[in-house]
Amino acid sequence: MTDQESLVLPPHVEDPELLPPQVEAAAEGTLLTYWQDRVGQHVHDSYSGVRLMKFPEDLRMFEHLLWLSRAQVVVELGTHSGGSALWFRDRLRTMAAYGLIPQDIRVVSVDLSQKSTHDVLASADSAYAEHITLLEGDILDPRTSARVAERIPQGARCLVVEDTRHAYETTHAALSHYSRFVPEDGFFVVEDGLIDSPELCVHIKPPGETGGVVSAVRDWLSSDQGQVFQDRSDLNRYGISCRNMWLRRTTGTASAPGS
Ligand SMILES: C[S@@+](CC[C@H](N)C(=O)[O-])C[C@H]1O[C@@H](n2cnc3c(N)ncnc32)[C@H](O)[C@@H]1O
Repeated sequence: MTDQESLVLPPHVEDPELLPPQVEAAAEGTLLTYWQDRVGQHVHDSYSGVRLMKFPEDLRMFEHLLWLSRAQVVVELGTHSGGSALWFRDRLRTMAAYGLIPQDIRVVSVDLSQKSTHDVLASADSAYAEHITLLEGDILDPRTSARVAERIPQGARCLVVEDTRHAYETTHAALSHYSRFVPEDGFFVVEDGLIDSPELCVHIKPPGETGGVVSAVRDWLSSDQGQVFQDRSDLNRYGISCRNMWLRRTTGTASAPGS
């Protein structure tokens, strides 16, 4: 048996579970319909066989910002299946291989429950735990952010991604408890501002009460803590997106990482 044969057989491209559903971009169609279909599609996508709920366009912008900000750690709020944690880990690992950031990379991913995530991630990469820390906790509880701080290597530059319930309360709590991890010229990304545009969300039904993401960000930005961040919504450069809110900590306003 060759080395190649001893590996697991590749999955079949015809398996309907393994690729996202097709979206038509008919030239005579409307942009609204296309956008609605893309929003519906993104909750059925995957990375390395693990569910990942992000637009490819947003993943490209994350790549730009990881590179620009030289992030060594990603703090992810909202793990779900773990596909995004795996994707972030792989991007950090590539940057470390280029010599752009220290080798000691880490993704710290928080969710209310991580019961099945360990097994799902282990099935994609048995060594996932080397660089991915799965933490169980409620982001509304400030003690959860203290537990996250313990997992961040000393002095590491972090990028924070808020992708939990997409409600006013969770968004505001995420910004209040986790923005301290973002260094100067680093980014705090609040995902899925589109939840506040119901006309775009006709094909998804997020669990629980959602909405108020944009107003939570606006309110927080006008607070003492938030005024050192700049709203860079212009970073939705690819047109179609989840209307993420890309917040950049301005120069001269550093907080000690993990403090
Ligand atoms: C949209 S999913 C995350 C998707 C994932 N980041 C991805 O891109 O594939 C939202 C997750 O947030 C979690 N969540 C909701 N409220 C939370 C809270 N208060 N604290 C921590 N996690 C929460 C849910 O359990 C769910 O798994």
